[in-house]
Amino acid sequence: MRIIADVDTGIDDALALVQLASRPDVELVGVSASTGNTTARAAARNSAGVLAVCGRAEVPVYTGAGAPLVVPATTTPETHGSAGLGYARLPGDLTSLRSGDFLEELWLPELRSHPGATTLLVTGPLTDLALALRAEPELPRLAAQVVIMGGSFNHPGNTTPTAEWNSWCDPHAAAEVYRAYEGMPTQRLPLVCSLGVTEQIELKPDDLDRLATAAGALAPQLSPELARNRPPSDTSSALIDLLADALRFYFEFHADWGYGYLAQVHDLLAAEIALGEVPYHATATWVGVETGSELTRGTTVADLRNLWHRPANARIVDHVAPGVSLAAFTAAIQRLTH
Ligand code: BDR
Ligand code: CA
Repeated sequence: MRIIADVDTGIDDALALVQLASRPDVELVGVSASTGNTTARAAARNSAGVLAVCGRAEVPVYTGAGAPLVVPATTTPETHGSAGLGYARLPGDLTSLRSGDFLEELWLPELRSHPGATTLLVTGPLTDLALALRAEPELPRLAAQVVIMGGSFNHPGNTTPTAEWNSWCDPHAAAEVYRAYEGMPTQRLPLVCSLGVTEQIELKPDDLDRLATAAGALAPQLSPELARNRPPSDTSSALIDLLADALRFYFEFHADWGYGYLAQVHDLLAAEIALGEVPYHATATWVGVETGSELTRGTTVADLRNLWHRPANARIVDHVAPGVSLAAFTAAIQRLTH
């Protein structure tokens, strides 16, 4: 299996990258970073740092689109920290970083030279995917599959009452991507992991302790009392330290917003589904994205009753087993640390 990841790293994007990096049997061809949680440049640096800590510094990382297609760029330091990875510090040497164009050097040559072989995983706003579809309209046929984290269907938003962050950030890109898939055969339609399933994937401090144990490292001690203003973790595992320092910020963010002292790790689920590690059920349907209204900007609408008789343009994942996700992540940590 070959895979390109398009990320806005981002704490949960970092977990997705760890999952991808852990699979020796998967060719992680490259990573591109879009503007969303943080700037594309910072997201690329964070991605390169995560890959370095995973021992995968050979994977090239490109900076993707610097801004959404139409609306101004908005980042979310309150959710992911000022540089996008919470309290984590990056290793000094980010040799993965590439300065070339992500489409010309990564996406297009890969898709054209390996038709039907490469999965695209997108865990940030859909800006880079929309630009790739403009540059290569055959992309739906050239990619093995497209897996997206984004949207919210019959479920509250996490950015506005109705909109999910990735769709809100670049609603025009999301709308353009779904339009591009109208009328495609079902198996080519993007597989969409929306908040209805991704919010079920929660990591808690105890889980992180278990991950540290799996890694043979000291537990990072992340109880809320100890957490605030603690110095960076030192568990004897660089990977566990990075995860602990990133997740500590994410726990605090979720606690501040009333979710409890935990982290919803949306993008991890999308990576695991792309890798075939978590069984799921999905429904093919027509999806549209609101671009015109300030009230409902980025709201994703699925015609689940087929009221409009429009051709399906997405497969919405509507059922997963959350426990399988955490087990798969633990297995990834074990692979990377033994
Ligand atoms: C999505 O928004 C981002 O903050 C996360 O990284 C995830 O991709 C969840 O709405
Ligand atoms: Ca993300």
